[in-house]
Amino acid sequence: MMASAKVVALRALNGRSPLCNGLFRGFRLNSTVSVRAYSANMSPPSKAVVYEQHGSPDQVTRLIELPPVEIKENDICVKMLAAPINPSDINRIEGCVYPVRPPLPAVGGYEGVGEVQSLGSAVKGLSPGDWVIPSPPSFGTWQTYVVKEESVWHKINKDVPLEFASTVTVNPLTALLMLEDFVKLNSGDAIVQNGSTSIVGQCIIQLAKLRGIHSINIIRDRAGAEDVKEKLKQLGADEVFTESQLEVKNVKSLLGALPEPALGFNCVGGNSASLILKFLRQGGTMVTYGGMAKKPITVSTSSFIFKDLTLRGFWLQKLMNSEKSQECRVMIDYLLGLMRDGKLKYEMELAPFDNFPVALDKALGKLGSHPKQILKF
Ligand SMILES: NC(=O)c1ccc[n+]([C@@H]2O[C@H](COP(=O)([O-])OP(=O)(O)OC[C@H]3O[C@@H](n4cnc5c(N)ncnc54)[C@H](OP(=O)(O)O)[C@@H]3O)[C@@H](O)[C@H]2O)c1
Repeated sequence: MMASAKVVALRALNGRSPLCNGLFRGFRLNSTVSVRAYSANMSPPSKAVVYEQHGSPDQVTRLIELPPVEIKENDICVKMLAAPINPSDINRIEGCVYPVRPPLPAVGGYEGVGEVQSLGSAVKGLSPGDWVIPSPPSFGTWQTYVVKEESVWHKINKDVPLEFASTVTVNPLTALLMLEDFVKLNSGDAIVQNGSTSIVGQCIIQLAKLRGIHSINIIRDRAGAEDVKEKLKQLGADEVFTESQLEVKNVKSLLGALPEPALGFNCVGGNSASLILKFLRQGGTMVTYGGMAKKPITVSTSSFIFKDLTLRGFWLQKLMNSEKSQECRVMIDYLLGLMRDGKLKYEMELAPFDNFPVALDKALGKLGSHPKQILKF
C-alpha cells in the first residue's frame, strides 16, 4: 500500500526517504490517514524536536508528534531514555558551521541512550529491554522512539546512570581519542587546555590523571572562579588559571615544578587559544576541536619559526565514520567502565523532554552558566 505524502516526509526524519520539506507542519498524532497507511510492524508514535529550516535553535525548533514508522526486517525500534544537548547539536541546527548536516526537515540530537522496544524479523543480536546507543552517533535522537538498522546500535551494560550512558560518545570519547592520537605522552608529561569546565575538558583532566599526565587548565573569568578551580582540582587538575591570571609576561613562570606541556587542546579560539600556544614547549602541538568564542586563532610568526609549533584539528564525526568505528566501540565500553567505577564523572542536569525549550535556553547560555542539559524522555 502506498504511504501518504505526509508519512513519506515524516519517515524521512529517520533518514529513509526522499524529503518533502515542510510537509509535517501541523501534523498531530490523531492523523488517521498516516496510521492506516501501513499494516506492517510499526513503531509507536513519537514525540520529537524538529526543525524545518536552519536558524537560532530557540526560533526554529518545535516539539511535535510524529506518526508510527515501519520497522523493517533489520531494524530496531528504540525507546529513547536520555539524550544530551551538545554544542554541536546547536551548531547543526544553526546550519552555518557544520559541513555534514541532516537534510531538512530534521529531528535534532545526535547521541543518547535508549531501550530496545521491538525488533525486525531478521534481527539476531539484540533483545527487547537491552540498552543501546547509536554508534557512530547518528542524527535524530531527540525523539521518544527511534527506528534504525541493527548495525547502528551498540549494546551497553545497564550499570551506569543513564545520563552518563547518553553522553559517553561525543565528549568523553573525544577526550580519550585526542589524548591518544596526536602526541605520544608518557607518565609525568603535561598537557594544557582551555574550556576546562566543558565535559570534554573535565574528561581530559580525569583521563590524563589516570595516565599520570599533568593538566594545566584555563577557564573563563567569572564570579565564583575559586569554586570552579577547586572542583576541577578535585577531578585531578594540577593547575587551573583564569584567562586574566595569564596576562603576565611569561606564563611559564606559573608552571612551578610542572613540565612544559607538549600538547594543548583548544575549544575556545581567540585569546584563549593564544594562551595555550604560550604554554606549549618547543615543538609542541595544539589540537583545535571547538570554537566556543567564535573568534579566530592567531599565531605569531615567531611561534612557528622559533618554537616550531604544530597546529592540528580534530573532528569526531569524521573519525567515527571511518574504519575506526569498531575500535571506538571498544573505547566507549572502556569509558563506560570508568563511569561505572566512579573514575570518570561530570556534572549534568536532567531536564524533562516536555520542558525542551527551557533546557535549550540553558544550553544556549541564555540563563547563565548551567551544567550539560540531558533530555529525559
Ligand atoms: N570536534 C569534535 O569532534 C568535538 C567533539 C566533542 C565536542 N566538541 C566541542 O567541544 C567543546 C566543548 O563541548 P562540551 O559538550 O564538552 O561543552 P559543554 O559541557 O556543553 O560546556 C560548554 C563549554 O563552553 C564554554 N563556553 C561557552 N560559551 C563560551 C564562550 N563564548 N567563550 C568561551 N567559552 C565558552 C563553557 O565555559 P563556561 O563554563 O565558562 O560557561 C564550557 O566550558 C564545544 O566547542 C564542542 O563543539 C568538538
